[in-house]
Amino acid sequence: MFQATDHSNQVNTNLPRHCTFRESDWHILAGFWHPIAFLHDIKDKPVAARLLDVNMVIYRTSEGVTVAKDMCMHRGTRLSMGWMQDDLLVCPMHGLHYDGQGICRKIPSIADPDARIPEKLRLQTYRTQERYGIIWVCLKEKPAWPLPYWRHLEDPQYQPIYVPPGKWQVAAGRHVENFNDVAHFPWVHGATFGGEMEAAYPLYQVEQTDYGLSFQLPYVELGNRFNDGMDELQQRHVVYSYELTFPFSTLLEVDVQESDYVMVILDTVCPISAHESGIFQILADNSAEPATDDLVQETLDINSEDQPLVESQSPEDLPLDLREEIHIPADRMSLEYRKALAAKFNLGAPGAVPE
Ligand code: FES
Ligand SMILES: [Fe+2]
Repeated sequence: MFQATDHSNQVNTNLPRHCTFRESDWHILAGFWHPIAFLHDIKDKPVAARLLDVNMVIYRTSEGVTVAKDMCMHRGTRLSMGWMQDDLLVCPMHGLHYDGQGICRKIPSIADPDARIPEKLRLQTYRTQERYGIIWVCLKEKPAWPLPYWRHLEDPQYQPIYVPPGKWQVAAGRHVENFNDVAHFPWVHGATFGGEMEAAYPLYQVEQTDYGLSFQLPYVELGNRFNDGMDELQQRHVVYSYELTFPFSTLLEVDVQESDYVMVILDTVCPISAHESGIFQILADNSAEPATDDLVQETLDINSEDQPLVESQSPEDLPLDLREEIHIPADRMSLEYRKALAAKFNLGAPGAVPE
């Protein structure tokens, strides 16, 4: 009913309220950069976002894009319910106005325009980067890991095509494993591009890279989804090259063997909560005129084939103790990923799950 006035017995762990992560996992994940929105979706209205159970407001002023805690410093109202006016973010409750640095510049109910505004009326802002058309946020002072390097997007030949963001009711790691798993293609993606169910699966090698893992795999896709003028072909030979950057970003290059066509799918995941993920995907290819609408629609169709199955997986948390699930040879990537998350970063370490 009421918040206690005596805070002396409270341990302040800086965890968000209703945190769904293990405490140690939250602090480790807070040290990474995570995507929270596409830059082009931040226009003239404040937008709500959520990362690691922290509610955020994203807004644009003439200074650029600001990401702050979604809580007015006056009475805690959600600022994402407010609006922009005169280059300031306006709280919908009593109209306090905040600038691009989160500083309160106006309290409309004070008659004297020269009255001093308390310094405490300043929003908690977060460290951000804008890269590849994505707003990335790190909750810690010192980021522990760099952003993924997506070299194709540095090349003007590959123009980014943005897929509308998705929201999956899954742990981020479950989505990443699914994105890096080729063995499900014939079973889940038979209607779009999946190959023969009985085709033997090559024993690929997983390499360690400076910031993640990579592997390559030849594959025969049934159907023909490539915009390279070879419409008569019923099946396509491709080489998939996966490059994962810890913890949740993957570059997939699809190199089509019958032509010079190359398509890339960039996939990065926002851990909204321990069991909800925001999916941000960018497509690009080396054709002079990409079939933008078709590529986006096809990607949405493929995602909708994956999503219900990944959401059905149990347990919801990705098991990092390898003894907890049974593995088959095709799971090499998944095994290396789980091992690395535990050994390199200490994710999944024993500890209480916050209430
Ligand atoms: S709660 Fe925001 S102005 Fe009062
Ligand atoms: Fe899939």
